Amino acid sequence: MFDHFHRLPVFFFLLSLSFSQSIHENEESDTPIHRFQQYLRINTAHPNPNYTAAINYLTNFANSIPNLHSKIIHLTPTSPLLLLTWPGSNPSLPSILFNSHLDSVPAEPHKWTHPPFSAHKTSDGRIFARGAQDDKCIGMQYLEAIKAIQMSDSKFVPLRNVHILYVPEEEVGGFDGMGKFVESKEFGELNLGFVMDEGQASPNDEFRVFYADRTPWHTVIKAVGMPGHGSKLYDNSAMENLMKSMEVITKFRESMFDMVKAGVAANSEVISVNPVFLNAGTPSPTGFVMNMQPSEAEAGFDIRMPPTADPELMRKIIEEQWAPAWRNMTYKITEKGFLRDIMGRPLMTLASDSNPWWSVFNEAVTRAGGKLSKPEILASTTDARFMRRLGIPTFGFSPMKNTPILLHDHNENLKDTVYLEGIKVYECIIKSLSSFEGSMNTNAMGF
Ligand SMILES: *[C@@H]1O[C@H](CO)[C@@H](O)[C@H](O)[C@H]1NC(C)=O
Ligand SMILES: *[C@@H]1O[C@H](CO)[C@@H](O)[C@H](O)[C@H]1NC(C)=O
Repeated sequence: MFDHFHRLPVFFFLLSLSFSQSIHENEESDTPIHRFQQYLRINTAHPNPNYTAAINYLTNFANSIPNLHSKIIHLTPTSPLLLLTWPGSNPSLPSILFNSHLDSVPAEPHKWTHPPFSAHKTSDGRIFARGAQDDKCIGMQYLEAIKAIQMSDSKFVPLRNVHILYVPEEEVGGFDGMGKFVESKEFGELNLGFVMDEGQASPNDEFRVFYADRTPWHTVIKAVGMPGHGSKLYDNSAMENLMKSMEVITKFRESMFDMVKAGVAANSEVISVNPVFLNAGTPSPTGFVMNMQPSEAEAGFDIRMPPTADPELMRKIIEEQWAPAWRNMTYKITEKGFLRDIMGRPLMTLASDSNPWWSVFNEAVTRAGGKLSKPEILASTTDARFMRRLGIPTFGFSPMKNTPILLHDHNENLKDTVYLEGIKVYECIIKSLSSFEGSMNTNAMGF
C-alpha cells in the first residue's frame, strides 16, 4: 500500500518529464545550435578521426538545403574530402571557396570540465567541445548561412559558383588533405578566384583576419669534436662548439623578441626561434657517463618565418653563424612549407583596397555590423598556404569576437550567441562575394 500510494505521483511526474523533454528535443533538433552540437559530437580527433561519420552528417544537412550539390572525393584510401557546390548564374566566372577541416587535435578528457565530445551547453550558453573553435564552427556556419540566405531571399542566385569544402588531415600538416587536393583534376576544375579559410578567435570587439601564415623550418645543428676526459680543459670540444652556437642563436632570438616586446612587431611578424631538443652525452646504465666529454652534440629548433623574411638570408645566417663548418658544425633544415608562391612572390594575400576581393570582404563584414582589426599574419600554419602557393587570394577568418582563444586547449568552447552572430556575418560575406562582378576582367569593374 505504502509503496503504491507513493509511486503513483512519481510515475506521473516521470511521464510528464519525459513528455516535456521529448517536445523540448524536437524543438531543439531543428536549430542551428543543435545541429552544431551534433557535428561537434562526431569524434574526428586524431589519431582516429571518423571522417565517414562527419561527411555523412554534413551531406545529410547539405541535402536538406535546396540547390546544394555534394561530391565526396577520395584521393587517399582513408581520408575523403567533401565538396559542396551552390551553382552560380555565370559559372564561367572564377568561383569562391569556403574551406574548413574535418579533423581536430586530440583531447585529454580528464582535464576537461565537460567531456570533449559531449558538446555540453552550460546555462550561460558556452558549448564545450574539441573543435568548437578549430574549426567545426565555420564548417557549419557556412551551411547555415546559405540556408538562411535562401530562406530570407528565395530569389537570390549567386553570380559565381560557391564551393564549400571539408578537408581531412589539416591538423597533421594537410599533406593527405588539401595538399593532395590542390594537385587534383577536381581542384583545377573549380577555377577558384578567391578562398576563405579558418582564422582565430578575437578576445576583443573586432574580428581578426589573416593574410598570411608563417612557415616552419625544422632545423637541427650538430657539432663534433675530440672526445676527452671529463677532467681535462681543452679547446673545441663538441659541447663547447654547440654552446657557442646556442649563444649566437639565443642572441638572435632575443633581438626578435625585443621587437615584439617593444611593440614594433607582432609575434607573428618576426622570425621566431625556439630550442626544442638537446642531444648529447654518453649513456650509462644509470644515466650518463660523467667523466667523459662527448664527441657529438646536437640541438633542434622550431623556426617560424613570416612571408616577409628572406629565406636565402636566413639560410646564410644558419650556415655562417649558427653552424659554421669552421667550428666543425653541420646543419639540416627541413622546410615544412613554402615562403614563395609559384610566381616567386612572398606567400601572402594583399589585404588592402588594391585587392578588390579585400574590399568586398571588408565591406560585407561592416554591413553585418562587424569591424575588422588590423590584418595579421597567423603565427602558425593552415591549409591556406596551399592556395596562396598557387597565387589564389586567401584570407583566414573565423568570426568569433569577445571570445578567449581556446584552440587546441582544454575546455575549448564557443558561446551560442557568438556562433549565431557568425552565421549572420557569413550571410553578408557569401552574398557579397558570390555577387561580385569584377576581378578577372578589369573592364567589368569600370577601370
Ligand atoms: C564512425 O561513426 C559511425 C557512425 O557514427 C559508426 O557507425 C562507426 O562505427 C564509426 N567508425 C569508427 C571507426 O569508429
Ligand atoms: C675541427 O676539427 C679538426 C679536426 O678534428 C680540428 O683539428 C679543429 O681544431 C676543429 N676546429 C674546431 C673549431 O673545433
